[in-house]
Amino acid sequence: MTIKDIAKLAQVSVSTVSKILNHKDDDIGEETRKKVLKIVKQYQYTPYSKVREVAVGRSYLFAVILPENLYYKEELIVSIEKYTVYNGYNLMVYFTKTQSDEIKYIQILSGKNIDTILLYPIAEQKESIELLEKQKIPYLILTKVHQFPQALQVYGNYEKATYIATKHLIKYGHRKIGLLLHENRHSNDCKEGYMQALFESDILFESGNVFIGQDEQETGRIGAHQFINRNLSAVVCENEIIACGTYAACERHATRIPKDMSIVCIHTLGFYKTLHPKLDIVSLNLHEVGKQAIEMILQKIESKKDIVYHTKGIEPILIQGESVSNPFEKVHGAYQKIIVVGSMNVDNIINVEKLPTDGETLLSNHLAILPGGKGLNQATATGKLGGLVYAIGSLGNDTDGKKLYHCLVQNGVKTEGIRFSTSHSTGKAYINVAKDGESTIVVYQGANEELDTYQIRQHQKLFQSAQYCLLSLEIPQKTAIYTIKMCHETGVSVFVKPATIETLQCDILPYIDYLIPNEKEIHKIVPGNFSIEQKAEMLYQRGVKNVIVTLGSKGCYIRNEQYHLFFEAAPFEPQDTTGAADAFISAFAVALSEGKDMINAVVFATYAAGISIARLGAQPSMPDRTTIDLYQAEIMEKVAVMKQRVNCFEKE
Ligand code: RIB
Repeated sequence: MTIKDIAKLAQVSVSTVSKILNHKDDDIGEETRKKVLKIVKQYQYTPYSKVREVAVGRSYLFAVILPENLYYKEELIVSIEKYTVYNGYNLMVYFTKTQSDEIKYIQILSGKNIDTILLYPIAEQKESIELLEKQKIPYLILTKVHQFPQALQVYGNYEKATYIATKHLIKYGHRKIGLLLHENRHSNDCKEGYMQALFESDILFESGNVFIGQDEQETGRIGAHQFINRNLSAVVCENEIIACGTYAACERHATRIPKDMSIVCIHTLGFYKTLHPKLDIVSLNLHEVGKQAIEMILQKIESKKDIVYHTKGIEPILIQGESVSNPFEKVHGAYQKIIVVGSMNVDNIINVEKLPTDGETLLSNHLAILPGGKGLNQATATGKLGGLVYAIGSLGNDTDGKKLYHCLVQNGVKTEGIRFSTSHSTGKAYINVAKDGESTIVVYQGANEELDTYQIRQHQKLFQSAQYCLLSLEIPQKTAIYTIKMCHETGVSVFVKPATIETLQCDILPYIDYLIPNEKEIHKIVPGNFSIEQKAEMLYQRGVKNVIVTLGSKGCYIRNEQYHLFFEAAPFEPQDTTGAADAFISAFAVALSEGKDMINAVVFATYAAGISIARLGAQPSMPDRTTIDLYQAEIMEKVAVMKQRVNCFEKE
């Protein structure tokens, strides 16, 4: 390749090429200059290297210096390298551990006729940049450096990214938003972006909603734990290491993503793809950072034009995943804690023509093994209906126990109160279901036997912050009585399902806010030849604040200070009545926790029980919120009828 060849390729004269190569090109247009230099670079024109060293002073080498522990260093280097090579240069990479490394590399490179240095400073000290200034090497900084406004700067814009992430959550209706940061130079920028977004939406900034951790691995876990306790509904994580910790904390606290906690992450390296549900991310757009950095520095060293922008924060990009939704509390109103204390079993359900009588043996060819137990049924139903639910129970340390635990977590139940027994296997129930839907149950208690007063006491703090406790008496009686008293002491309203109990001590009755027996159970608790109404009245007179007798297809009867009232059952065809009372109790508590009045709550609960009897199994038959909401119009009609009836009684 000769100078003539270059002139021919560039369609210019030989003297033009010569002027350019000898840096005597003031009268030559920029376009022509660029065209010629491009060909020179492309064909590696040998004499040119000499020319450039002597006349132009170029080595065609760029160097990038950046911290070894920079979170996204590979991504940034790949992008810088791509555009360096694309423009005919080569790249050398230097990693720093300390600031003295940085100074050392700048000094070494200064003596090497390098064309430019791209620096990602390891710290915010000014020595390195001052040294670059002194050495008169063209340089560009890959972060934001406030003290040097004249320095070329192209960087991933953390402030804007955090602003976009917070705005994204606000758009979904979140107002209780946390920020999880690892202590580093971006912390302040992130906080600024977060505060700006809150400010623009009239949301008060609370310092407790920003957690800045020292240990990156632990930041997500510890910070998210605090945010869950503060009832925040959404969080912005500074990076995916923190996001992973947040996912782990949510799993541990049975906090559903995104239903209970929406998560947005600033920038990811890609391993977030294994997270489920898929993360919503605000990418720092590092590809563009590399591209624009090279374009800006080339403009300085190759072109004679002035650079208009010295500082360029690259616009981040929002990539939507599945980790953000509307906040749960917005949809369903109140957000009060409901504790469920009760049995957790594996149900062995056998379908028979009719229930066996004494001494009778029946054959069946239909067996189902499903999650169950009154405690587990009530906890999962409460979760499915959108309640904020915490379960206390005991499982065996076996496969069944793990399956039941998983079932709780899947349904949004918080499981800090669950323990695994080392000496008992998971409880089991043997259930016969007849063709008309009626059933009988025998329970092998297993690990449920170990649910003791100590375990309840351990969760005293939870009781102090809760509103309701659903207690079913398939657990040791001592524990049940202790729980009722704990509820009384901590001001929690307790709902008692008196299954498997022969008698209820009179002195405990005034501590019970809601006693919910079925027909058989009330006859056991109050023996004698009296009507349901009379028995409910007796219990009420002895101190139970609300007696609610569930009557299967006949609905239910309520006796309290305000009412003695029958409610009809919801119109569903019975398939299997097992678990209907659990559905009723949970729905009733969820409705009250949302601020519904007694009549509304009872009608809502009759529909939950109705949907449950129309399905097979106990736990799987518990309705979710969407299903029950399909009957909203019917429910409202029934509520209106009941309220009218009550008004008529009151007038009489
Ligand atoms: O209320 C129904 C439940 O009672 C069943 O799931 C069974 O396990 C027993 O606890």
